[in-house]
Amino acid sequence: MTADRYALVGHPVEHSKSPWIHARFAVLTGQPVRYEKLLAPLDGFAATVERFRAEGGRGCNVTVPFKFEAVALAHRLSDRVALAGACNTLRFDGASVFGDNTDGVGLVRDIESGAARPLAGTRVLLVGAGGAAAGVLGPLLQARPAEIVVSNRTLRKASELVQRHASLARQLKVKLAAVALDAVAAIGEFDVVVNATASSLAGDAVPVPVSVLRTGTLAYDMMYGVAAEGFLAWAARHDADPRDGLGMLVEQAAESFEVWRGVRPPTAPVLRDLRSLLQAG
Ligand code: ATR
Repeated sequence: MTADRYALVGHPVEHSKSPWIHARFAVLTGQPVRYEKLLAPLDGFAATVERFRAEGGRGCNVTVPFKFEAVALAHRLSDRVALAGACNTLRFDGASVFGDNTDGVGLVRDIESGAARPLAGTRVLLVGAGGAAAGVLGPLLQARPAEIVVSNRTLRKASELVQRHASLARQLKVKLAAVALDAVAAIGEFDVVVNATASSLAGDAVPVPVSVLRTGTLAYDMMYGVAAEGFLAWAARHDADPRDGLGMLVEQAAESFEVWRGVRPPTAPVLRDLRSLLQAG
């Protein structure tokens, strides 16, 4: 049986773990899936996707820096894309392209199932208001915490993100507010703190004050590996419960796999093996 082709399109893509994850999903589900990496030139995202589609590709994941451009390429969009303003999954349905965003669901699944920390009724701090934060706020709201505070160095961006989600928050009866990072010390402790900033990539210190943590706060960095180390070590030093974004990576991949194939792959064994693989270096 010839395999159906899928790909990750981004710039860069060489260190991505997605081909490994999807190869495991294909084996575990018996689905005939082949998943490759496609490096698109910075000015050639649409052309790269169109070429892959013309060659028989069935769908792709989209990563940095093309998640916004991908929205324009889709003919039909999920509600998740409409809220996030970004798209990480394209499915080619004959002449039509369907766009979805699986990042937020991936984060929520990893928190609630992977870390066994139900979000309902909790107080959540989302740090950052860029593309990474925008991709997860809708699904975080849908998990019905009592409150989400979005905190960003540039308050205007947090306010815009909150504004875009205000009606969903009202509908779900979740309290939602934007606060500048330098004012966050005054608003108490949180059950869950999610770091969605790029501060570690810039070599900067942890962007939040320690007063947001209490013993056992789930301190989640959406990155993994070296990029997450500073935040996780800071959380551990203050008796919080640190977790990196490797589980989110596996869960968003599983959600994309289901969008393409209609089959949900198991994630726990894949995350366990991926972690061992990375630890073995
Ligand atoms: P991404 O797609 O990874 O979210 P982005 O859209 O460039 O990337 O957003 C980067 C986020 O990290 C923003 O929230 C940014 O804050 P500003 O909006 O104020 O720029 C945040 N960020 C980057 N470096 C930071 C730092 N040193 N301290 C605090 N926040 C930082």
